Amino acid sequence: MLFQISLFIFLASVETALAATAEQWRGRSIYQIVTDRFALPSGASPNACDPGQQTWCGGNWNSIRQNLDYVQNAGFTAIWISPVNQNYEGPRSAYGDPYHGYWMADVSKLNSRFGTADDLKALSAELHRRNMYLMVDIVVNNVMATSKTPDYSTYLFKDASMYHPYCPIQWGNTTSEQECWLGDDKVPLPDVDTRNPTVVAQYGDWIQDLVKEYNIDGLRIDAAKHVNIDFWPGFCAKAGVFCMGEVFGGAEVDPIAMYQGPQALDSVLNFPMYSALLSGFSIPGPQNISAIVDVFQQSQDTGLLGNFLENQDLPRWRNLSVDPQSMYNAMAFNFMSDGIPVVYYGQEQGFSGNADPFNREPLWPSNYTLTPAYELITNLNMLRNFLVNTTDWAKQGTQILTTSPYGIAIMKGPVISVLTNIGSPPQNGTHIAAKTPYPSSTALTNILTCQQWAVGSSGMIDTQYTLGGVPIILIPSNLLVGSGLCGTQLAATAKAGGKAASLASVARPAFSLSIIPLALMWSVLLVFCFFSS
Ligand SMILES: *[C@@H]1O[C@H](CO)[C@@H](O)[C@H](O)[C@H]1NC(C)=O
Ligand SMILES: *[C@@H]1O[C@H](CO)[C@@H](O)[C@H](O)[C@H]1NC(C)=O
Ligand SMILES: *[C@@H]1O[C@H](CO)[C@@H](O)[C@H](O)[C@H]1NC(C)=O
Ligand SMILES: *[C@@H]1O[C@H](CO)[C@@H](O)[C@H](O)[C@H]1NC(C)=O
Ligand SMILES: *[C@@H]1O[C@H](CO)[C@@H](O)[C@H](O)[C@H]1NC(C)=O
Ligand SMILES: *[C@@H]1O[C@H](CO)[C@@H](O)[C@H](O)[C@H]1NC(C)=O
Repeated sequence: MLFQISLFIFLASVETALAATAEQWRGRSIYQIVTDRFALPSGASPNACDPGQQTWCGGNWNSIRQNLDYVQNAGFTAIWISPVNQNYEGPRSAYGDPYHGYWMADVSKLNSRFGTADDLKALSAELHRRNMYLMVDIVVNNVMATSKTPDYSTYLFKDASMYHPYCPIQWGNTTSEQECWLGDDKVPLPDVDTRNPTVVAQYGDWIQDLVKEYNIDGLRIDAAKHVNIDFWPGFCAKAGVFCMGEVFGGAEVDPIAMYQGPQALDSVLNFPMYSALLSGFSIPGPQNISAIVDVFQQSQDTGLLGNFLENQDLPRWRNLSVDPQSMYNAMAFNFMSDGIPVVYYGQEQGFSGNADPFNREPLWPSNYTLTPAYELITNLNMLRNFLVNTTDWAKQGTQILTTSPYGIAIMKGPVISVLTNIGSPPQNGTHIAAKTPYPSSTALTNILTCQQWAVGSSGMIDTQYTLGGVPIILIPSNLLVGSGLCGTQLAATAKAGGKAASLASVARPAFSLSIIPLALMWSVLLVFCFFSS
């Protein structure tokens, strides 16, 4: 009897550990993968893969599993993979083949293109062995067809009464956005009637089984905006895991915020901040830092939002903004403010394709190089993981210390991030001055260069950009102990290679702060920024 009780407790705790809640996701960092494009199976010849062809390039669940070091070494603690369920299997459509996984037919089956049930379980198990989470993309709103009067006999919902009748979406009309059909005349996406009680029950049973069977830790929900909001609480309760919805939109906060909360989803992807970051940081662009402040001030409960600069629908950041420093600064904002950072595969390789299908480049031609962007991400993840592991940083709210036409300084917990939109060319005279709560002479380390700085009189810091517009991430030097950054020892496993190792070689002991003028120290700082980026 005693044995049975302890076995029961053991199973119960395993269950909790695997079915991750919103709170458990708060401190995570997500790498987003299009399964077909992330990695080739070992031994496959690296065939040309032209995203313009809109067909399969050969990636699968096993090849993700075999290449997780690349993701984990950059400090990510979760992956989001493209949908795993059965897609349309008919002749090639006007928009090619369903290599992306979003063209649902029968969600109760797996998509055999990407492997077997055991392969998906092996991926899940390997992630958990590495202490990482698995987020799976799901599509509930719609199926895919090649006509407006499809034969539903091979779909999960076989009767036309389980779908809304065809109507084209009238954008801006919420009812129409939820009930009419996405897609177009060539590839209509029949809209499942998510008010039909049979549909609700079947979807509920399906998601409960899917999450249990594959030990899924979280769901990314495609087109969540196109489903009646009151569908979500029951559905996500059945799933029993964190739900992050795609509510596509622009800089307006309210139409997106209404999909987050107890009446809706745990989290949504932060489209308003994406839009604002583009306004603030892209080069060329309006360089409008006020847009960031505006979204920041309108937003609440931001700690669980998904922060991104790219995804499978949007043009790559580099397609919109040519200067690499613009991406580095915007990325640092996403990691060092509230929310869960999400990096779309290939961003770390500087991919620059336009929107769908050109933003789904194969990753393998990059040779998985440890680029400056990869190393920046590694450092941002290391700092964030360390703070998440050892403090309540993930729950602390971000404050704006100052803004200027050239950038913004924010503070979350002890970390001050000074971010600029001036781009790579040096600018003499441009500076961002911010008042911090730190006493003068407090030693701060810029974790991206390991240079140390002293806070000036009245708590002021003043950044100058005589060697270019690099991001600057400052933390009191004494708080870095145990982080593995800047020559300190990582309390947990040591990281092989990457920036962590090379940073140690440029780490310096604290300067004698009182004898080095602040301005001089900043210029030393900027020299290092310049050479390392
Ligand atoms: C909004 O869309 C719904 C569903 O298609 C439609 O019945 C309704 O008339 C539309 N409302 C307006 C104001 O056009
Ligand atoms: C900058 O953003 C603010 C806030 O969103 C907006 O009111 C203003 O019109 C924008 N300015 C430009 C030049 O785009
Ligand atoms: C944006 O993408 C298009 C299509 O992929 C490409 O032709 C163009 O060169 C890209 N622009 C940049 C700046 O990379
Ligand atoms: C990847 O490696 C191949 C073969 O060595 C080489 O031709 C190619 O230029 C490399 N690509 C990058 C982006 O380094
Ligand atoms: C955070 O904790 C996890 C496990 O609890 C560990 O694997 C990881 O190395 C830690 N990371 C940092 C940067 O401290
Ligand atoms: C900026 O100032 C530095 C010295 O502080 C000087 O070496 C450099 O030439 C100046 N650059 C420009 C573009 O004026």
